[in-house]
Amino acid sequence: MTETPVAADRAPVDPAMERLRSILDPARFREITESPTGYLELAGADIPSARGLGQQLMRTRFYATFYQLGRPLGMRIASALEAPGRDADRARTAARLNLSPGRTVLDIACGPGNFTGYYGSVVGADGLAVGVDASISMLTRAVADNSAPSVHYLYGAAERLPFRDESADAISCLAALYLINDPFGAIDEMSRVLKPGGRIVLLTSLAPGGRRERLHVRLLETLSTMRMFGRDEVTGFLRGRGFTNINQVSAGLAQTVWATKS
Ligand SMILES: C[S@@+](CC[C@H](N)C(=O)[O-])C[C@H]1O[C@@H](n2cnc3c(N)ncnc32)[C@H](O)[C@@H]1O
Repeated sequence: MTETPVAADRAPVDPAMERLRSILDPARFREITESPTGYLELAGADIPSARGLGQQLMRTRFYATFYQLGRPLGMRIASALEAPGRDADRARTAARLNLSPGRTVLDIACGPGNFTGYYGSVVGADGLAVGVDASISMLTRAVADNSAPSVHYLYGAAERLPFRDESADAISCLAALYLINDPFGAIDEMSRVLKPGGRIVLLTSLAPGGRRERLHVRLLETLSTMRMFGRDEVTGFLRGRGFTNINQVSAGLAQTVWATKS
């Protein structure tokens, strides 16, 4: 067998990395490096401090290790599952994102990559799935558990995405808006980065009775350090930003909203 010599100074080509570089906005960071555990870091990225117990938990190695086991239970308690089962949940979300081979999808606040890795299998070798998260522990798990050739993980903040305007075909942000310090600033960022015609899927909390202004809801927010969203808050915000085909499914303390950018 003959072997083709490879020039010593030429790094192997990683098509997904090339695609990722093409959607990063050089004005928003200085340089990109790979961490020892395999996720990517952008010099100059500004990561918000963990505010509240929920955020602090997400940054611990213990929580990140057991998160994927505990998620179905948490979702069941919040009644967020429309049909039980991790595979059904992922397939339904990918369908709402309109994913197909060759697409570029961003999973904002990806946690341990439990959806990002699946997206990678749907968009295939010609596509790109990027998970972004502010927790190093979660990203370390994501690389270990949910890697694929078309998948990359990036240390970053939902409120300051490093991507170019209108560069992604689809964006999800699941089970995270209620933890994010500036959730509507984060949705604005996702809207900026999404291509016209692209899909967004948001899974977040729903205030009991659908109304956030009630005293017991405020108390619940204070005790849990998580934001509860009113029934029309997320849908209304998207409508105000010009999104169309806005859908909402709510159950218990959870709501899933998906829409198309016009
Ligand atoms: C409950 S996990 C959700 C993980 C996954 N998306 C899922 O649906 O299972 C919430 C994630 O949001 C991340 N997060 C919280 N605030 C963030 C921010 N400002 N920017 C990026 N990620 C954030 C946390 O680090 C954590 O990994």
